[in-house]
Amino acid sequence: MRTILTDILIVLAVLTGFGGGYLLWDKQANWYKADIAKLEPGPDSDLIRYGKELIVNTPRHIGKSAEDPAMAYGGNDLACQSCHLKAGLQPFAAPFVSTVATFPMMVDNRVIPLTTRINACMELGLNGRALPDESREMAGLIAYMKFIGTDTPEGVRVPGMGLMPIAFPQDAPDARRGDLVYVKHCTSCHGANGQGEPKASPEVGYYVPPLWGDTSFNAAAGMAQTAYAASYIRANMPTGADYQAPVLSVQEAWDVAAYMISHPHPLAPPESVPEPQAEDAPTDEDAETPPAQP
Ligand code: HEC
Ligand code: HEC
Repeated sequence: MRTILTDILIVLAVLTGFGGGYLLWDKQANWYKADIAKLEPGPDSDLIRYGKELIVNTPRHIGKSAEDPAMAYGGNDLACQSCHLKAGLQPFAAPFVSTVATFPMMVDNRVIPLTTRINACMELGLNGRALPDESREMAGLIAYMKFIGTDTPEGVRVPGMGLMPIAFPQDAPDARRGDLVYVKHCTSCHGANGQGEPKASPEVGYYVPPLWGDTSFNAAAGMAQTAYAASYIRANMPTGADYQAPVLSVQEAWDVAAYMISHPHPLAPPESVPEPQAEDAPTDEDAETPPAQP
């Protein structure tokens, strides 16, 4: 049975593609530089600042360990920023600069509002439950996304949105080879047991987030699918690598993604189990070299 969350997984695939945005890559200013420090004082700016705070310090406010237990919408203590690096300003780490300009989105004759897309990450990445549409938290997240998209073109996904397309690997992804990649490039931060490094109490959340286990994203998350994880990891990990200077080869990225996913993750909520969709994976056709920096 198709559900809204299944549709979102399809949206993930569609959004990972390049679309027309690359035409703008060289012609426009850097879209990835919004700075909340420049905001005037006032209630609108306060809401934007609160939205950024929610993305950076998610667990403190709405994670499993939220200061107010009634606000514990997340089922883990990941931050949005654990994946959406630099509070949504890092190209190819699923940034937010064109998000408000391209939602609501039509998928298979259904309209996916931005609130639904945000709540997909609440339910899958944060392994929790939906934020109420009318909450100050939802309003803050959207206000921040709108702010960092100020002056971006309506209806266009600017270059760097989504994840970096990655070619299919030469050899089928192999978790045993991925183990070796992990030891060499990931253990130093994420730990041999994949559990990362929690912040020291009374802080909550992580200096380095976990990659598997009960405290991680769940099995229906984009990050739990090899193709998405491989694209994300190649363009962003180990920390210090970026899409312009990947550290891992294409094969290493697929192998280490397979290794990460071979470990257990929390079960997906029952209504969100994706249908098999081989065409979701980034393809060779997608894997053109992106033009220089945005
Ligand atoms: C475990 C990693 C992870 C976490 C944690 C996470 N997300 Fe996501 N998010 C993703 C991935 C992967 C995508 C899809 C990237 C793609 O295909 O474009 C995504 C996409 C999105 C999008 C769609 C953006 C667009 O324009 O396409 C929004 C909005 C979003 N996330 C909001 C959030 C918010 C808010 C939080 C925190 C409450 C959050 N996410 C936490 C991984 C994560
Ligand atoms: C220098 C430390 C460091 C190294 C090395 C490193 N990471 Fe990370 N990783 C991080 C940090 C820190 C974050 C969260 C980003 C943030 O909070 O700003 C992260 C986030 C992630 C995420 C998304 C969040 C999550 O919990 O799923 C994945 C996936 C990931 N890393 C995989 C890897 C893999 C695979 C490797 C090895 C190829 C690797 N990392 C190497 C520090 C590191």
